[in-house]
Amino acid sequence: MENARGIEKFPMANKNPVQIIAIIGPKGGVGKTSISANLAISLSKLGKKVVAVDLDLGASNLNTFLGIRTSKFTLDDFVLNKVGKLQDIVLETGWDNMGFICGGNIPGIANLHYSKKMKLIRNLSLLEYDFALLDLGAGASYNVVDFVIIAQKSLLVTTPEIPSILNTYSFLKTLVFRRVTMALKELGNQNVLDLIEQARDVDKNPHLKKMDDLIKAAGIIDRRASGVIKQILPDIRPAMILNRIRSNKDEKACAAIENLMQQYLGIECSRILRVHEDASVGYAIAKMTPVMIDNPSSVFAKDINDIALFLTG
Ligand SMILES: Nc1ncnc2c1ncn2[C@@H]1O[C@H](COP(=O)(O)OP(=O)(O)OP(=O)(O)O)[C@@H](O)[C@H]1O
Ligand SMILES: [Mg+2]
Repeated sequence: MENARGIEKFPMANKNPVQIIAIIGPKGGVGKTSISANLAISLSKLGKKVVAVDLDLGASNLNTFLGIRTSKFTLDDFVLNKVGKLQDIVLETGWDNMGFICGGNIPGIANLHYSKKMKLIRNLSLLEYDFALLDLGAGASYNVVDFVIIAQKSLLVTTPEIPSILNTYSFLKTLVFRRVTMALKELGNQNVLDLIEQARDVDKNPHLKKMDDLIKAAGIIDRRASGVIKQILPDIRPAMILNRIRSNKDEKACAAIENLMQQYLGIECSRILRVHEDASVGYAIAKMTPVMIDNPSSVFAKDINDIALFLTG
């Protein structure tokens, strides 16, 4: 069994200055890796020491977006204990200030054992960089959610299409419920935990659909519970990246997701960042060169630079 409290507690003890940024997008193909690769370069150009970490366990390809064909070490070496520290497998990229950790592909890595995950989390916080950008896989498994929980900031990538927005919403729901459950476990009241479990299934429990209703119901069972939930929610403030914007109509997607987040999960975005549809992305991938290098004056590169400024500002 996972010790959820361990994950909750760990980042609080983290005094290391590395800022861990989780780049997530529960729907496949929304642009997580394109953004991770180019954002890392953009931050390094601002003079920040950056390491880009491929944590798309079992489906890694960040190296391709960075134009790196061979790698001396991969995450496999760390997971298989061939090296002692994560820092030992950081590769040079050839760009100033920027390192790279290549993804692993050993069978089973996608279901990383809990103890390995905790070791990885501990080692991430020891990396000697200003920023560690984590390119995470699609989906909402705990191997994604738990890295989001330990990250100082999360960038949630979505496209304006409805399936992507709905996936983003269910991902956030998993995240919120995991955080809330972790915190409520401290109260030791099983009835409250059962209520949270019931609320996950909105079809069977429509009366618990909105976060306000859930907080009230939890408070009736245990007066302390509503306070605990209200304390947790303001901490969950992901920044959203709306990628592949084609027209002003796509702005509706922002309003839709914000509305879902506020009403049903009781959380807000810290910022909505916008990245436009740009053919330079495809051209650069075909050349196995990052857009920031291939076409630094493109619209995509400008949008990515704005995200870098948001992270450093
Ligand atoms: N702003 C953009 N403009 C044009 N094309 C884009 C843009 N962003 C991403 N793409 C294209 O979308 C495709 C998928 O991008 P990417 O691999 O970065 O997504 P991903 O979220 O990492 O996917 P996966 O879930 O498989 O890891 C790429 O081929 C890329 O060219
Ligand atoms: Mg990817």
